[in-house]
Amino acid sequence: MKKTTLIKEGKAKRLYNTDEKDLVWVEYMDQATALNGKRKDHIAGKGELNNQIDCILFEQLVAKGIHTDFVQKLSNNEQLNRKVKIIPLEVVVRNAASGSFQRKFDVSYLQAFDQPVVEFFYKSDELDDPFINTNQAIALKIIDLEESQRLEKMALEINQILKERFAKAHLQLVDFKVEFGKTADDEIVLADEISPDSCRLVDLTTKESLDKDVFRKKTGDLVTVYQEVLNRLNNSQEEVHV
Ligand code: TMP
Repeated sequence: MKKTTLIKEGKAKRLYNTDEKDLVWVEYMDQATALNGKRKDHIAGKGELNNQIDCILFEQLVAKGIHTDFVQKLSNNEQLNRKVKIIPLEVVVRNAASGSFQRKFDVSYLQAFDQPVVEFFYKSDELDDPFINTNQAIALKIIDLEESQRLEKMALEINQILKERFAKAHLQLVDFKVEFGKTADDEIVLADEISPDSCRLVDLTTKESLDKDVFRKKTGDLVTVYQEVLNRLNNSQEEVHV
């Protein structure tokens, strides 16, 4: 397997074609952005940490029956994925109040919910990724009703698996964002990345933040915190039968 031409460079990853037409080579970069890319920092070691964390989480999800674009880890900062067309929605699942939910409804930090909350945001840098409901997404022909129900069901299943996996690492999964894509035969699969860039994680006991909030709020060292998440996942590694 060889990487060939660059398909695109995003905020944190480079995507390359390979000599297999249905596979893409993903390279995680040492870059962190906040405020929708307006703040951009080079952070040595970040790419390797996110890729390793993402591989552990996707391997776990695949083992539990979630259909994804993940194929295999290639190196500490590279992985092989199936080629998909990304659905332009950020699907957020929340188990407790934080971030934009906490600000919007003025509730206390980490107030627990009886059941998880699923929200969609429209992926658009120009519009600053606005909140979008199902009817709006259908009107804009982004998804149909059946697809919206499928996304919500998959997002909740993913939440359950990730919540349990992080709890083994003594971490509470407060909320996270995922993206989905369509394969060449029109199957919806989990795609993109799951890492401390796209999750809120707090220590189960101390409630200390172990995610990108330390970069967004400038309250800690991103590499130290992401390394801690990786160590905890490795030290609580489950046997995965793929
Ligand atoms: P929010 O509380 O700011 O809406 O974020 C919800 C979750 O989504 C949180 O875990 C962080 C993640 N997220 C991203 O991965 N990318 C983004 O651009 C934003 C705004 C949030």
